[in-house]
Amino acid sequence: MVNETMKKSKLIVALDVDTFEQARGLIDQLKNDVDIFKVGSQLFTACGPVVVRYILAQQKEVFLDLKFHDIPNTVANAVTSAINLGSKMHDVLDDNQQPLEANKGLLLCTLHTLGGQEMMEYAARAAVKQAQTIGVTKTLLVGITVLTSDAKTDNIRDLVLQRASLAKKSGLDGVVASSQEAAMIRSEFGDDFVIVTPGIRPQGADVGDQKRVATPFDAVRAGSDFLVVGRPIVKAEHPAQAAQQILQQIEQAQQAQ
Ligand code: C5P
Repeated sequence: MVNETMKKSKLIVALDVDTFEQARGLIDQLKNDVDIFKVGSQLFTACGPVVVRYILAQQKEVFLDLKFHDIPNTVANAVTSAINLGSKMHDVLDDNQQPLEANKGLLLCTLHTLGGQEMMEYAARAAVKQAQTIGVTKTLLVGITVLTSDAKTDNIRDLVLQRASLAKKSGLDGVVASSQEAAMIRSEFGDDFVIVTPGIRPQGADVGDQKRVATPFDAVRAGSDFLVVGRPIVKAEHPAQAAQQILQQIEQAQQAQ
């Protein structure tokens, strides 16, 4: 279930860097403007849970983007482990050097819809159970439909729709999909279904390997709840300024609605 404060589109910065020190530098530069940080396979493989705990200790939200895809039992256990990343925070110190005793949930976690219905159902059940067990708000599980770097044009909309439908039926909270499919997903699955949109590029920015890109304005207008931005912020000369410009564009799109 999506609460009211989540109806506004929010910016997520993808911390696609190689080391904890680089990630910490970015978080520190961005934390006045940005509330949600994405930890993906590049960074998590490099430094593991410490970066998740650091983000939580700054009172910020974590999107753990490890795109789980395995047998149902393994994915369910991986989801349980992901939720546990927000527990036992006594080894993390806050700004006053006090241990953070409270458990804190992760906001979002990804898995591949390609893993199938049984895998997603196991994952959805594990997420509910583990959040209850450690007493945190349930992590939103979102399924990858078709990667935004995928340019196949023939049946992409049908494929996204099919996979989103399976995700919903299996108990996931939403999907990751490009801005080009967001409006269709919103009208098909309603306001409570979470849409996370990567492949966001401010006007004139370098597209990189992304194929199905959109401006922040268009993604908001298409109904995305969360806009994931990596390189346009992380590689910018002034990351905080780049983030502020994108936040302005999000705000403008919201006002125009
Ligand atoms: O640098 P850029 O803005 O393209 O980064 C997009 C981020 O979103 C990357 O971390 C990428 O792994 C992630 N992502 C994606 N497409 C998906 C799911 C996640 O680009 N379907």
